[in-house]
Amino acid sequence: EKGGYDHFMLKEIYEQPKAILDTYRGRMLADEGIIRMAGIDDNMNKFLNAERIIIVACGTSWHGGLVGEYLIEEFARIPVEVEYASEFRYRNPIVTSKDIVIAISQSGETADTLAAIKLAKSKGAFVFGICNVVGSSIARETHAGAYTHAGPEIGVASTKAFTTQITVLTLIALKLASKKGELSKPELRSLLQKMQLIPGKIEALLKIDDKVKEIAAVYKDAPNCLYLGRGFNFPVALEGALKLKEISYIHAEGYPAAEMKHGPIALIDENMPIVVIATNKGHYEKVVSNIQEIKSRSGKIIAIVTEGDTQVKEIADHVIEIPETEEALTPLLTTIPLQLLSYHIAVMLGKNVDQPRNLAKSVTVE
Ligand code: F6R
Repeated sequence: EKGGYDHFMLKEIYEQPKAILDTYRGRMLADEGIIRMAGIDDNMNKFLNAERIIIVACGTSWHGGLVGEYLIEEFARIPVEVEYASEFRYRNPIVTSKDIVIAISQSGETADTLAAIKLAKSKGAFVFGICNVVGSSIARETHAGAYTHAGPEIGVASTKAFTTQITVLTLIALKLASKKGELSKPELRSLLQKMQLIPGKIEALLKIDDKVKEIAAVYKDAPNCLYLGRGFNFPVALEGALKLKEISYIHAEGYPAAEMKHGPIALIDENMPIVVIATNKGHYEKVVSNIQEIKSRSGKIIAIVTEGDTQVKEIADHVIEIPETEEALTPLLTTIPLQLLSYHIAVMLGKNVDQPRNLAKSVTVE
């Protein structure tokens, strides 16, 4: 059932081109500039009149939610807040019938997320679910929703669930943006056409697996690792760190790159590997100066850059190239090498990749 792969996690990483395609198939007509999502279309007025969108989730799905915040605010210009479901449910949050709550969950069974939904409903909010497991508790408890269609995710470490959540959130952001007149038809068409190229670009990106494996071999014994990114790729840095810590048990932290100088920079020495996402349009010059700061403190730099990059290549110890795309779509690409890096490190360390210690696939207790 692992389809010839050594682990479910690797299989699921490689399934991402198809999973993303399955997620947008039937929902977007790129050349016509049309997005159809029943859960959104049927509730369009609620979305257009919403004063605020609150995204609730846990773990990797919370990281997906953060990417959603950047997407929805950038394109649809609706204020978004992203909350850990566990904090939201217990802090007496201000929620009204003018809010829309989007709950994101792969399993659809996460106890804290489910409780956050019930709380939001009791306060009159409209609750929209983004789930992978069809018919799950969260899918049933929400007023409307959109499935990710990633197929079963068996590996405890979430991979294709994350990228398909981002796919759904991208469609929602673009749909709302075009309805609100924030995006013209040609702009929408162009973005959707770029979206359509993503599965093929991930396919190409997966070919760098051997290179990622070489990098993994160099850093597998590091006790710590930092992940840095800005903008759309800040949540990807958080997700990269979570992937590494949960399956390899190496302590890792993700930070917005500019926050480094407010503390984490003290950790940097020649033994510290730092993964930096430096795509060409995403505050590139600022990230380059962050990389220079790391270099001058002898940190080891593993940079994720856009194809054809020259500046970062001169400074970084290792460079992984991703294909060119719209900046807002780069999380779908930059995530892939980070998943592979943690996978290979965990395998090299002899860890149980698919079932890391102390973790469960669905967290049904708070
Ligand atoms: C990380 C991971 C967990 C889950 C979290 C939420 O790889 O798997 O952090 O993302 O437990 O689970 P769902 O999405 O099922 O609500």
